[in-house]
Amino acid sequence: MMDDIRAVEWTGDGLRLIDQTVLPGRFEHLDARDVDTLVDAIRRLVVRGAPALGVAGAFGVAVAMLQAARQGWNVTERDAAIERIRSARPTAVNLAAGVDRVLPFVPKGVEAVVAEAQELLDEDIRGNRAIGRAGADWILARTGKRPLRVLTHCNAGALATAGWGTALGVVRELHGRGLVERVYADETRPLLQGSRLTAWELERAGVPYLVQADGAAASTILRGLVDVAVIGADRIAANGDTANKIGSVGVALACADAGIPFVVAAPWSTVDLATPSGGEIPIEERAAEEILAWGGAEVAPEGARGFNPAFDVTPARLVTALATETGVLEVSSGETPAAARP
Ligand code: MRU
Repeated sequence: MMDDIRAVEWTGDGLRLIDQTVLPGRFEHLDARDVDTLVDAIRRLVVRGAPALGVAGAFGVAVAMLQAARQGWNVTERDAAIERIRSARPTAVNLAAGVDRVLPFVPKGVEAVVAEAQELLDEDIRGNRAIGRAGADWILARTGKRPLRVLTHCNAGALATAGWGTALGVVRELHGRGLVERVYADETRPLLQGSRLTAWELERAGVPYLVQADGAAASTILRGLVDVAVIGADRIAANGDTANKIGSVGVALACADAGIPFVVAAPWSTVDLATPSGGEIPIEERAAEEILAWGGAEVAPEGARGFNPAFDVTPARLVTALATETGVLEVSSGETPAAARP
């Protein structure tokens, strides 16, 4: 059952992560009981997706506390280790927010931190269910064709969250109502979160889908083959500008041109009101090797240099709707997260 996918779990003495670098070929877990292992897992995308990173960050504080006790670290050493987790990836606000959420519980001990991290995990699953219902209702009110043809980019499913998913949560809700004809899953270069992870989740959920190259997305939309695009987010600025996996803004531009809705599905934990607009969102730039090689084989000539931003920013004017756990904001019509924060 797809509902059983748990990207992040607390085992009592550490974190158990589904290793998302080896899916779909292998389903394996990686246990992170020390800070180096966890930071490396976050950087390598063993665990990834904004809400899953938030939960990993929150439990990560407990990992650091347990390691501090084992190895006799002083408070400064422990806090430096926590800061390494907090800043392991810069774009998804959830990672730092997850760490910050449990920090007030540190003086109360590991059990209190674990309990708060577990609360964050449970909240995320509940929130995703609500996002799915709100997003599905809004899409059905806005679109005419039944069943729907949905396009998504990257992976915003159970693997990217504490469970169920945001953008894929909307898809699963629509599918549960018998209203999905097919999903176009962009493969999502360079690390293929779409073809490796989204397709794996859709297969398990029995949702009809086609994997397409990222370069096909605009054409698929302009040919009239898509009714709605639904994606997740890594950080949403106060004005509604939205950072998500590189390639998202191209999907949004094509949707605007075709006159179909571009829907961002994300919890309020991904909204960062301290960031006024997209220009202030830090964009992670990853190693050029991810572009220049694949599966150990070089895919560019020797000497080629790469440019590998992991995220882009879709301006608020292109975000038709933001589906949250408290309802839907029509961002391109002027409903900003700053004004609507519950
Ligand atoms: O680099 P990744 O795989 O962590 O990027 C993930 C995304 O861009 C997701 O769309 C986003 O985090 C939302 S996950 C619900």
